[in-house]
Amino acid sequence: YKNLKDFPTDFLWGASTSAYQVEGAWNEDGKGMSIQDTHTPPEGITDFKIASDHYHHMEEDVALMAELGLKAYRFSISWARILPKGRGAVNEAGIQFYDRLLDELHKYSIEPIVTMYHFDLPLALYENGGWENRETIDAFEEYARILFERFGSKVNYWLTINEQNVMINHPAAMNPGKVPNKKELYQQCHNMFVASAKATLLLRKMCPNAKIGPAPNIIAVYPEKCNPSDALAADMWEAIRCWLYYDIAVYGRYTPSVWSYLTEKGYEPEIFDGDMDLIAKAKPDFLGLNYYATATVSAPKNDGHDCQPRNGDQQVMVGEEGLYRAAQNPHLQQTKYGWLIDPIGLRVTLERVYNRYHMPILITENGLGTHDVLTEDGKVHDDYRIDYLSDHFKQAQLAITDGVDLIGYCPWAFIDLVSTHQGYNKRYGFVYVDRTEDDLKEMKRIKKDSFDWYKKLIEENAKNL
Ligand code: BG6
Repeated sequence: YKNLKDFPTDFLWGASTSAYQVEGAWNEDGKGMSIQDTHTPPEGITDFKIASDHYHHMEEDVALMAELGLKAYRFSISWARILPKGRGAVNEAGIQFYDRLLDELHKYSIEPIVTMYHFDLPLALYENGGWENRETIDAFEEYARILFERFGSKVNYWLTINEQNVMINHPAAMNPGKVPNKKELYQQCHNMFVASAKATLLLRKMCPNAKIGPAPNIIAVYPEKCNPSDALAADMWEAIRCWLYYDIAVYGRYTPSVWSYLTEKGYEPEIFDGDMDLIAKAKPDFLGLNYYATATVSAPKNDGHDCQPRNGDQQVMVGEEGLYRAAQNPHLQQTKYGWLIDPIGLRVTLERVYNRYHMPILITENGLGTHDVLTEDGKVHDDYRIDYLSDHFKQAQLAITDGVDLIGYCPWAFIDLVSTHQGYNKRYGFVYVDRTEDDLKEMKRIKKDSFDWYKKLIEENAKNL
């Protein structure tokens, strides 16, 4: 391109976190337990109980956000901090914490982007059948009502559910007991669709000026080779993994090829009268999108080995018998943790999404998780993170130049937090938290080199990318 379009002047340069990965204070001030509080982490991996202790460092952390020049901060509200049992009595101390956080953000003109539910279902709801039980839909609607009542005047951007598609395709971390089978998972999935629709419709009534959208993990899926059966496998997996979640939100219907797959396999959910009408009425205002890297697949070989986990990492596709098989992509580099790095894939993904839905897109997550080192000069020289983000931002700008309506970019994460797979060993933040897996030290906050780089980039609205 000779003429790149600029990022819009009101672009939401942001950063993300989620409650259970950053807050700590897991059992303080009346908070109930969530499913994440029950995890026994693998040996050597920290749990979520103390995390980055943001609950007790909130003012300090928001002051750092202001220093970074963030225009937006995406965080999630812990459902069990507001409703310790998932429904019923409200925990006023929990309300106060988020009220203070929102006030603090507004003090510095940082736009809050609030995720209502990020992997941390209240344990009481899980024990009552979790998302398979339609009562959880009612519970979510009640929770949404409380959020909109209490925080509606302070929040313009809401996200309903984080990575619903990851919860369905990689269910182990969300189901501390027995891992549900696919039929049960697609029932959970349908119930989450209804719950999001109800929350969206409620927001329209209670806060008509606010905006709301979903936040699935969306990636382009590449065929390994150009033979038509690889292309078909890539299309099918992309539809099952990604399009289903936006098609329901935007068009109010199940993606036809996905519905046919579900019925063929006997995985189709029970749909109650009125569900689809409700879903159809609840069109979002924008599409949240978490992107880490693309996937590459080949046609299934149907030899009993299509579905073989390669490791515990959520980004590694495992394949499905008769549908697709995960393949290597020799053109991409990997992080130390085996996650692929594909900046051009971000542009491909954004353009596929925009061409399909014509809706504003907000990147709600993208970032590099790796081991950072606090060096003797008291700094963290994370030039690799700067390279990673700058390569992705450039592709986002190319997508904008191609006509994509991108309204913001919230890298994961604002501050180091507990990774869902590798605890505190794997870090994502612009701000380093001085603790290790087993030594909490003083949890001092230290600005990484990427902090200064991002600050300048925001100031210049990425003019010198
Ligand atoms: C996303 C999640 O899937 O990826 C985050 O929304 C998560 O909660 C992030 O932390 C990175 O994954 P991980 O496993 O490295 O923490």
